[in-house]
Amino acid sequence: MSVSRTVTSQLDGASWIRRMFEEGARLRAERGADRVFDFTLGNPEVEPPELVLAALGRAAGAGEGHCHRYMPNAGFPSAREAVAERLRARTGLPYTAAHVLMTCGSAGAMNVAFKAMLDPGDEVIVLVPYFPEYRFYIENHGGRMVPVETDDAFQPDLERIAAAITPRTKALVLNSPNNPTGAVYSERTLAGLGALLAGHPDVTVLSDEPYRGLVFDGRQAPTPAAIIPRTLVCDSWSKVMAIAGERIGYLAISPRVAEWREFFDACTFANRILGFVNATAIWQRVVAEAGEATIGAEAYQAKRDLFCEALERMGYVAPKPAGAFYIFPRTPIPDDMAFIRLLVKEGILAVPGSGFGRGGYMRLALTVPRETIERSLPAFERALAAVR
Ligand SMILES: Cc1ncc(COP(=O)(O)O)c(C=O)c1O
Repeated sequence: MSVSRTVTSQLDGASWIRRMFEEGARLRAERGADRVFDFTLGNPEVEPPELVLAALGRAAGAGEGHCHRYMPNAGFPSAREAVAERLRARTGLPYTAAHVLMTCGSAGAMNVAFKAMLDPGDEVIVLVPYFPEYRFYIENHGGRMVPVETDDAFQPDLERIAAAITPRTKALVLNSPNNPTGAVYSERTLAGLGALLAGHPDVTVLSDEPYRGLVFDGRQAPTPAAIIPRTLVCDSWSKVMAIAGERIGYLAISPRVAEWREFFDACTFANRILGFVNATAIWQRVVAEAGEATIGAEAYQAKRDLFCEALERMGYVAPKPAGAFYIFPRTPIPDDMAFIRLLVKEGILAVPGSGFGRGGYMRLALTVPRETIERSLPAFERALAAVR
């Protein structure tokens, strides 16, 4: 059996991920795990909220009869109604259970949406820097990713987006709070985007929101669906409940999309034939009950402050992000891959900005114990000294 040419070339394109992984394993074996500072993975290190674990305990108990069988492919009506109720409160729009499909995380929601909307050669705009999996989600369904640069503050650049729209453009992906930059898109920017897209009725926004509840400094992330009429929300509890391994999320089609019923049926079918069939039953019941519980942004905010302030004191350019759980400092030399190699020599693993389509930066995940950040600081100082 041979691996397909498509997957072979996708694996080649993503080989830096494998290299980082191998580098981490090598370093740990060589130096011992406690002398390696791994900031590569956005995998929540805290335990889920008590409320969630208690709801899980109840969901695992007897429950209603027959709650472990196949169900409608869109999910339990009760879970979908619970999500719709929260969306009504957040947006003021008349969402109902009929607009909501329970999915295997935000990744599942995006794949379902792309499967339902893309024909071969259709284009999807993503904003640079971007979550690298987007390319694969789009290509999975015959689409073509069109990367568009953001401005200096990593906010959407309306002129560049307008220039990138063609008759083949089907969707624009927004991700606020953003991985990797932590940028949160302002209401003004979203309103500008809404005005721009009013002139392009074939373009739908996919709002990928797994970090929605992780916003710092007491702020809240504006909701794209409340502002831009043709919006699909792709959301999950992976990050905000620290349950990324459980694979639970949802896709919500805005009631302002005229053909929402037809699209909902297509997405439900896509959920089935992509092999997800339906989102995990037990977690649908948990999020129906405890879907508002979160791990909170406070712990990440404290680590953000510690990390960014320490790096800035040394001489790095490391502005504080507004949300999510990463920091995205500039590398002190333009060649981010070369600087990442220097960090490796110091026992630090970081993801190069090039992996997200923007060289000259590095992504450091805050999903590590505070003391890992503290102990890593002398190594960051030595790496900086090496290029000065
Ligand atoms: C921007 C972004 N979108 C989607 C995902 C996928 O998340 P989920 O676990 O909800 O599928 C991730 C996970 O890291 C992410 O960072």
